Amino acid sequence: MLSSWETLSTDFLVIGSGVAGLRAAVELSKGGEVLVVTKDVVTESSSEYAQGGVAVALSDEDEVGIHFEDTIRAGDGLCREEAVRVLVGEGPERIMELIQWGAEFDRVGSKLDFAIEGAHSRRRVLHAHGDSTGQEIVRVLIEKIKTLRGVKRMPYSMAVDLYVQDGVCGGAIVLRPTGICLIRAKATVLATGGAGQVYARTTNPSVATSDGVGMAFRAGAVVEDMEFVQFHPTALYMEGAPQFLLSEAMRGEGGVLRNIHGEAFMKRYHPDGDLAPRDVVSRAIISEMVRTKSSHVYLDMTHLDAQFLKRRFPRIYRTCLQCGVDITSQKIPVSPAAHYIMGGVKTDIDGRTTIRGLYAAGETACTGVHGANRLASNSLLEGLVFGARAGVAALEEAGRALSHIREIPRHLLEGIGEISGQESLRDEVRRVMWERVGIIRCRESLQIARDFLREHAYITEKQYLRREELELKNILTTAMLITESAMRRECSIGAHYRSDYKQREGCLYHQAVVLRGDRMEFYRS
Ligand code: FAD
Ligand code: SIN
Repeated sequence: MLSSWETLSTDFLVIGSGVAGLRAAVELSKGGEVLVVTKDVVTESSSEYAQGGVAVALSDEDEVGIHFEDTIRAGDGLCREEAVRVLVGEGPERIMELIQWGAEFDRVGSKLDFAIEGAHSRRRVLHAHGDSTGQEIVRVLIEKIKTLRGVKRMPYSMAVDLYVQDGVCGGAIVLRPTGICLIRAKATVLATGGAGQVYARTTNPSVATSDGVGMAFRAGAVVEDMEFVQFHPTALYMEGAPQFLLSEAMRGEGGVLRNIHGEAFMKRYHPDGDLAPRDVVSRAIISEMVRTKSSHVYLDMTHLDAQFLKRRFPRIYRTCLQCGVDITSQKIPVSPAAHYIMGGVKTDIDGRTTIRGLYAAGETACTGVHGANRLASNSLLEGLVFGARAGVAALEEAGRALSHIREIPRHLLEGIGEISGQESLRDEVRRVMWERVGIIRCRESLQIARDFLREHAYITEKQYLRREELELKNILTTAMLITESAMRRECSIGAHYRSDYKQREGCLYHQAVVLRGDRMEFYRS
């Protein structure tokens, strides 16, 4: 049991320091003190590792309307059009503003250099330092925040649960190196990123344990479309090496996928070949791996100019070299990995969740903007656009939530105590999810995962003190949400592929879930 805990107050609480949280903080700083709590160092996030770039309709050959159409097509008919309109329409302004704040995107001469990625019909992907786009955007946002009065950053501080009273969110309980802390706020913005760590193979950093979805779901918020998990086709596949992302931009520059016999296979699966939508490429790779009885395929860049590759993909070149692969002369062993979750905490286009005083933005939120499958490089833009909008809405509406906060919720802290480690369970959950609720699912595989998760679900009912245990609780909750949602969706659309229900008919709906007592209640939304 905890012997002591402290209480802090701020005007606005932002949970997470990726692009969405940082961009929200910029807006919030206009109305009071902002506290950005983040689980690790401030720069540890998916945003920091984003490689390919940020999609935006700014080139001479492009239009907002064409970006809209490409996004809708990639989403396989399930995008919420209103959200897509906001994303592509406000995107150019958010990017121009970043450039004004000091972002240095790559240029050819004085003109911005636009790359192409899968399912884009135009060159529209801006990149920085070749393949370190996210790092550059995060750098600029952090610099910007340093110039603003009233934004404080609190690293190594993990939000454990939201403090919700009478249906209003008044802050969060946070685990700090010094102990447990209740942070009271007029408005709270959840920006905790994705759920990659639910899977054994993932491109996501270790902080991506879906804490936002776990916390919001436990607090009674509606969560939506959790069955839609995007698997990136090309993560490094080598014993003992990190599951490092090999950017889709590499195929955009002419990279070719080959099976272990050296055959370029993508044209057999889709007319767009290596630049087909991600779900198509990932399934094609699995199919080739099965056919050739192999654990991987290859990404071949060796026919491209070596100097060009080193200049265009410096980080990838260096990382692969450290792992023993020279991408200019050797094919890179790759296989798919969990990369992005389209579902999340349901919000409107201003980041409002179904709980008053609680906003969500970025990968942890579900505006429906990506539908059943996200268009490559749309998520950094999502973080900028919807992070800013959530900040604006929270700022305007904050006073109303504050009046509902009455007292410090002692009861929320009771029962928090230390238990023994659960490392092996974490690995097992991630393996089961990868094998049974991965790129291709069916009733039988989902049933096995559900049985396994139900057996271990007890852990979600307890409170824990260590970061690893708290993360495991959120991983389990999210795994359960993905599995149950996938089980109910008896059809195939976008990234959700059921081998026993391959038809797309009847699949054009959003699926919401909310906690009622100890039961998940599903409905179409
Ligand atoms: P994140 O950037 O993931 O930030 C989440 C933050 O929340 C982190 O600071 C984390 O530490 C913190 N956090 C989590 N839980 C807690 C908690 N309980 N308490 C406190 N803090 C918490 N998208 C593109 O558009 N273009 C790309 O080129 C691209 N490349 C990618 C490459 C890689 C390797 C990966 C993993 C993703 C890539 N993506 C790309 C996807 C994109 O990076 C993410 O979807 C996006 O950056 C998410 O931003 P976010 O702000 O929502 O979350
Ligand atoms: C990549 O560079 O392939 C990742 C882009 C993205 O996920 O949007």
